[in-house]
Amino acid sequence: MYQPSFDLAQNIKEQYSTPVAVISKPMLEEKVKAMKTAFKKNTKIFYAIKANNNPHIVNVLKNAGIDGIDTVSINEVKLAKKIGFTSDQIIYTGSSCSDSEMTDVHNEGVMLNIGSTSELARFGKIFPNTKVSIRFNPQVGDGETAAVITAGDSTKFGIKASKLDEVKQIVAEHNLIIAGIHCHIGSGFYTTEQFEKAVIRILDQAKDFANLEFIDFGGGFGVQYKKEQTPIDLNDFAASIEKHIAEFNAHNQKEIEVRLEPGKYLVMQACTTLTSVTTIKDEYAIPFVGTDTGMNHIIRPALYGSYHHVENLSKLDGEKQKVNIVGNICESDDFIAEEVEIQTPAEGDLLAVLTTGAYCPTMQSFYNLRAFLPEVLVDEDNSTTLIRKRMNFDEMINQLGFTDF
Ligand SMILES: Cc1ncc(COP(=O)(O)O)c(C=O)c1O
Repeated sequence: MYQPSFDLAQNIKEQYSTPVAVISKPMLEEKVKAMKTAFKKNTKIFYAIKANNNPHIVNVLKNAGIDGIDTVSINEVKLAKKIGFTSDQIIYTGSSCSDSEMTDVHNEGVMLNIGSTSELARFGKIFPNTKVSIRFNPQVGDGETAAVITAGDSTKFGIKASKLDEVKQIVAEHNLIIAGIHCHIGSGFYTTEQFEKAVIRILDQAKDFANLEFIDFGGGFGVQYKKEQTPIDLNDFAASIEKHIAEFNAHNQKEIEVRLEPGKYLVMQACTTLTSVTTIKDEYAIPFVGTDTGMNHIIRPALYGSYHHVENLSKLDGEKQKVNIVGNICESDDFIAEEVEIQTPAEGDLLAVLTTGAYCPTMQSFYNLRAFLPEVLVDEDNSTTLIRKRMNFDEMINQLGFTDF
């Protein structure tokens, strides 16, 4: 987990003010390297850009060796292209897709990964004789909370195996070419068990498709949120599926391209949000520590009950106290961390909220008319580059699309 030193954090505060997101470039590079090293055999890494779409961050990942981008909207497709990825380096995994979005994505030359028979039939009608990928629901899911499990008995994602005959019928009717099959079981798993089960099921389904060019097993690799937590061993994940892929290849007498779509694994731990303590409210048994960030920047605790480790950088060796760390948003759920022990905070202290690199930046809002977090990229020598500026009032209002007033 990236945690800048007090001196560096203080310099960043002086230069860019708080709240501010600080991203370690070397850690981004390290995560790509770890993925590429563990999954050597014919595996391509398609970064799930929904996790963090700052083009400067994606560029670091690109230069470090990711092979492509997993997108979920037409605008993510356009952004991936603008960053420099070619159509064949982008896959689009939409859900509840309209005909017009499917058309726009297809017209960008990007392959669609389709997760319902309705969308497959509609796509086939508009674009017969076309290559597509199919997202199956392997009916095993895993993830750090129920809300982020995306496969299982009842889910909007993916096509159930019981629909296989219907899939084949649609494919035949419109002469579609199934070039890929895909699954994504959820976000934030720590053991290989469910992942391996899903891989076995998807490989079994893959036998039915003769023109396959790739099999995509999605993302979801868990990250370390707590200092005492043991990080996952990607080699275990690679080892858990290698045998099954080798058997599949032996059966087909050719090596299939394997794809993975990590999002949070590549970016979550590399980012820390620096925030200043503005207000101490001490009339309760567990005091409230008010900060200048909030759920508009870090929504995961309110949305998923997620944990973000917080350090008081101003007093790293200080005594600890149990506190509630809250933001400046007008909502009771505006917690950064609930009932956690941190070095006794005082107004003016500089806090570091760790592991905020994935989904926090992309799920930000202008709620309460507060601006997004500016982002600062930190290089190996601790030099800093502003990669997202703090918007002023006029810039924010312009982003909201209000007609003239
Ligand atoms: C289709 C797909 N692939 C990949 C991911 C990335 O998941 P994670 O960030 O947990 O690696 C997601 C996340 O929602 C997804 O929906």
